Amino acid sequence: MCGIVAYVGHREACPIIIKGLKRLEYRGYDSAGIALMTHELSVYKKKGKVSELEAFIKNLPINSNIGIGHTRWATHGEPNDVNAHPHYSSNKELAIIHNGIIENYASLKTELESRGHVFLSETDSEVFIHLIEDVKQNNDCSLDEAVRLALSMVVGAYAIVVMSNNDKEMLIAARKGSPLVIGIGKKEFFLASDASPIIEYTNDVVYLNDYEIAIINKGELTIKNINAVTQTPYIQTLDLELDQIEKGGYPHFMLKEIFEQPKSIKDSMRGRVNASLGHLQLGGILQYANKLTNAERIIIVACGTSWHAGLVAEYLFEDIARIPVEVEYASEFRYRNPIIREGDVVIAISQSGETADTLAAIELAKSKGAVIFGVCNVVGSSISRASHEGAYLHAGPEIGVASTKAFTAQVSVLAMMAIIVGNKKGTITESQYIALLTELETIPQKVEKALKSNDQIVEIAEQFKDAKNFLYLGRGYNFPVALEGALKLKEISYIHAEGYPAAEMKHGPIALIDAEMPVCVIAPQDNSYEKIVSNIQEVRARKGRVIAVVTEGDTHIKNMAEYTIEVPATHEALMPLLTVIPLQLLSYHIAVMRGCNVDQPRNLAKSVTVE
Ligand code: AGP
Ligand code: GLU
Repeated sequence: MCGIVAYVGHREACPIIIKGLKRLEYRGYDSAGIALMTHELSVYKKKGKVSELEAFIKNLPINSNIGIGHTRWATHGEPNDVNAHPHYSSNKELAIIHNGIIENYASLKTELESRGHVFLSETDSEVFIHLIEDVKQNNDCSLDEAVRLALSMVVGAYAIVVMSNNDKEMLIAARKGSPLVIGIGKKEFFLASDASPIIEYTNDVVYLNDYEIAIINKGELTIKNINAVTQTPYIQTLDLELDQIEKGGYPHFMLKEIFEQPKSIKDSMRGRVNASLGHLQLGGILQYANKLTNAERIIIVACGTSWHAGLVAEYLFEDIARIPVEVEYASEFRYRNPIIREGDVVIAISQSGETADTLAAIELAKSKGAVIFGVCNVVGSSISRASHEGAYLHAGPEIGVASTKAFTAQVSVLAMMAIIVGNKKGTITESQYIALLTELETIPQKVEKALKSNDQIVEIAEQFKDAKNFLYLGRGYNFPVALEGALKLKEISYIHAEGYPAAEMKHGPIALIDAEMPVCVIAPQDNSYEKIVSNIQEVRARKGRVIAVVTEGDTHIKNMAEYTIEVPATHEALMPLLTVIPLQLLSYHIAVMRGCNVDQPRNLAKSVTVE
């Protein structure tokens, strides 16, 4: 969820804000905009790069010492000029910039429309500023009180800054779930999503906490909590370098994104899952929902890591919804003359939404009459626009070339799709449905726990960083995870690695096993546990070096594997969300120890937009 920059003080606001937005470009975005207090509150915004916004306002009369700026990562409403931020209130007296997702925006919008509010955009953020305006008018209260009351009515994640034509020196900021930092200068204040736009002006910052509201007016900063109780600002002096800030203090984007997964998985479920209410809904799959429910066959097209997520989806849909699934490499599918029948549905999975082979596969399937569901991370991307319907990941921008948080968000969304269909078809009982939703909601904290093996995995990486080959073995839901673990290792450490169904070993690969061969075995306590234990013993009998990913508390495998890495127990269908975590960390640490360029591995691009 992208970038916020705001300024009020004695300097020209526009150059500070534009430069600050450029500092936040690393976070990925699709649009940019700014609001300034020229002769009145004026908003300038457009789809595209910050530099295009800069050119757009270059010759305009934009002298102002207060302003708010935004780079948008669209979640509600495709990237275009109208949906870009800032958004005005109805009377154009107020403007807002917002990072995050307002889950209950639709119901708020309906209520506000019934009271005469007219909306120009499709975004959830525009609803926010109209709500503040409505509350201010109905309660005849101050702007900061209106913001406070409005915040208690919204559900979701937000970092906002609000400007007002009637309080020309005032900025009001608030946060819950999305970051916001306040830089304290000499009679000037800087606000941003992280410290990178701030530290060239001041190192003294206040990190706003969840449910806090910052009121900056006439050179003074006041912080209140959601109950209007004044808080004492805790001012920190930063000594971070710019590069460190962009990566959130992590050495690489990939590690930052691995550790973001509790949040990105939670965001993928935000507003979609509520186990206590038995609620599960994907807002982007409504019109063609019956097509999916009544599908006689599902064809999944994808590439790379997304193809691995598709393989997990094969187990999910066949297991939970009892629909036959075929998972196709998009690059192969597009050149075959595939048979598409009336009852077939195609699911296209793509983080970037721009992979040429996947896009071509979609066009081919559409030409043969298939309904296409897109599962993408980028709103308004080519693949999402080429699909009839679909579901966005809401995982936030993924910068590292090696896909990590997108994979787990894909599996989370695909699991939700399968559970919705299984529930509608009655192929799972009500109690199984509730059990799956309940378990889904525990995944973010279980991922958090799985990440705690990081230090142990560093030690394991040290032992195997010079290996020439690796094997990854898994069964059932974890066979695709074995493939994903192998891909992660080879694409960032350049060590040759292969993933196999564990039972496949005896059909050839076991000839490779010797004391030099590390074998990563994904061996959770599921219904193939006894069989995978036998596979471990087969490897050990040939002196292979076993690294086993096991269910927390498993002491049985610990006695036979050289290393065991524990993950929390969960439903078999959701285990890939946990077993992939140690494999991501292992590949990352081995690659770093080998001096590889982890975020931008040789020969690779983040999005393969060519054939
Ligand atoms: C995975 O780590 C790689 N970056 C690559 O295999 C990637 O998954 C593949 O190119 C597909 O990209 P997409 O999800 O953006 O379509
Ligand atoms: N949900 C808002 C939108 O789609 C904000 C997205 C963001 O964080 O940039 O416009």
